[in-house]
Amino acid sequence: MTSNTLTITDNRTGKRYEVPIEEGNVIRATKLRDIKNGPDDFGLMSYDPAFTNTASCKSKVSFIDGDQGILRYRGYPIQELAEKSTYLETAYLIVKGELPDLKHFRVWEHNVKIHTMVHENIKKFMEGFRYDAHPMGMLVSTIAALSTFYPEAAQIHDLESRRLQTRRLIGKLPTLAAFAYRHTRGLPYVYPDNELSYAGNFLAMLFKMTELTYKPDPALERALDVLFILHADHEQNCSANAMRSVGSSQVDPYSATAAAAAALYGPLHGGANEQAIRMLMEIGSVDKVPAFIRTVKEGQRRLMGFGHRIYKNYDPRAKIVKQIAYQVFEVTGRNPLIDIALELERIALQDEYFIAHKLYPNVDFYSGIIYQAMGFPMTMFPVLFAIPRTSGWMAQWAEMVRDSEQKIARPRQVYIGEPERHWTLIDKRREPTMREDQVSEVI
Ligand code: CMC
Repeated sequence: MTSNTLTITDNRTGKRYEVPIEEGNVIRATKLRDIKNGPDDFGLMSYDPAFTNTASCKSKVSFIDGDQGILRYRGYPIQELAEKSTYLETAYLIVKGELPDLKHFRVWEHNVKIHTMVHENIKKFMEGFRYDAHPMGMLVSTIAALSTFYPEAAQIHDLESRRLQTRRLIGKLPTLAAFAYRHTRGLPYVYPDNELSYAGNFLAMLFKMTELTYKPDPALERALDVLFILHADHEQNCSANAMRSVGSSQVDPYSATAAAAAALYGPLHGGANEQAIRMLMEIGSVDKVPAFIRTVKEGQRRLMGFGHRIYKNYDPRAKIVKQIAYQVFEVTGRNPLIDIALELERIALQDEYFIAHKLYPNVDFYSGIIYQAMGFPMTMFPVLFAIPRTSGWMAQWAEMVRDSEQKIARPRQVYIGEPERHWTLIDKRREPTMREDQVSEVI
């Protein structure tokens, strides 16, 4: 007889507990609280730093099978979407759950495009940043500032408000991103051109100079659009988790999106492709690759753009990005860093260390090479990630808001500090109260 339960025997008390197994492999952590050593005992809890084996939600947005290297949005394989869809259509799919028919797509496109403009005060706000401000720092702060322009966004339980803020954010992100870029270049900001596609308009706001209308190169426009599709969502990654966690306090979605964008800023998340490019530049030439690989294996360095918490196989997005690189080079000329990257990948994929650790290229390994070839400075790389990820963040957030099982996110801790002690007068305190090494532990 088999049953979908787990039997736990507590050897402290000899008691047995029957815990239901849901969804094939899930047990509810709160069930552990029933396992007590005595009537006043708190009960067991699980300890899982960095959530490596804890599901924080049930989601229908993205599916990843890390061992097989599979990524699907709402059930659709990423390869099909990258080949056949557009970013705006994919954003609709992610946010609403289904691909649109033509009528619904036209309405959606119109509804997003009418939100590409930003209030003039947002422009003034951005002008206040220093000339050398990092565009991602500008983006994070400006997204947060949007909440002051749309106070009704606080009505998070109102469906129409959620839809409106979603369209606004997807519409405005390229404008904020482009303004941040123009600011760092000391160039006048370019207003949106809604005659252009989502990616084409973004390129125009970035690169338009004195021409009356900017005509994006179709190959670059498509390449950017596909990169946007590939970055649209990735289930419970660090920034999606930030979006959900901050959003669970019921704050407005602009504030939550600013938190998500801040999470994306870090070098282990959206900042990884910048680090990958810096690494490739530092290596400098193909013949230096073996020596660099040695430093990685000795634990002195990480191979940036390699490895993933979930993928223990080739990241399916990285395969597509690698193909796009060659299409982009046909227009921009070859970025010589690709040769170093290819050699790194060739050696790593047959090296025992990388095989044993299941380390494969992730999406960030080749994306920076493309962005650099297209003329983007490295500081823009996380910004380019944040634009398309906005649809994913909003879908994750809306799912969290509607989920009756969700509450304010509030993990437990295992307290390992001092037991109770009492305050004494400053001249009565024992010297030294803290050793030097302990001081460095606390700060
Ligand atoms: N180079 C060399 N060794 C690595 C690397 C790497 N890039 N990544 C992981 N390892 C080793 C690590 O040293 C550890 O070895 P050991 O078990 O012998 O101590 C083992 O693999 C497991 O590493 P981990 O840090 O515990 O794994 P994680 O799941 O916590 O980290 C990661 C995932 C993506 C942060 C990590 O692989 C990494 O730092 N990669 C480089 C940064 C990067 O490319 N980030 C982009 C991620 S994809 C885009 C996104 O989702 O934002």
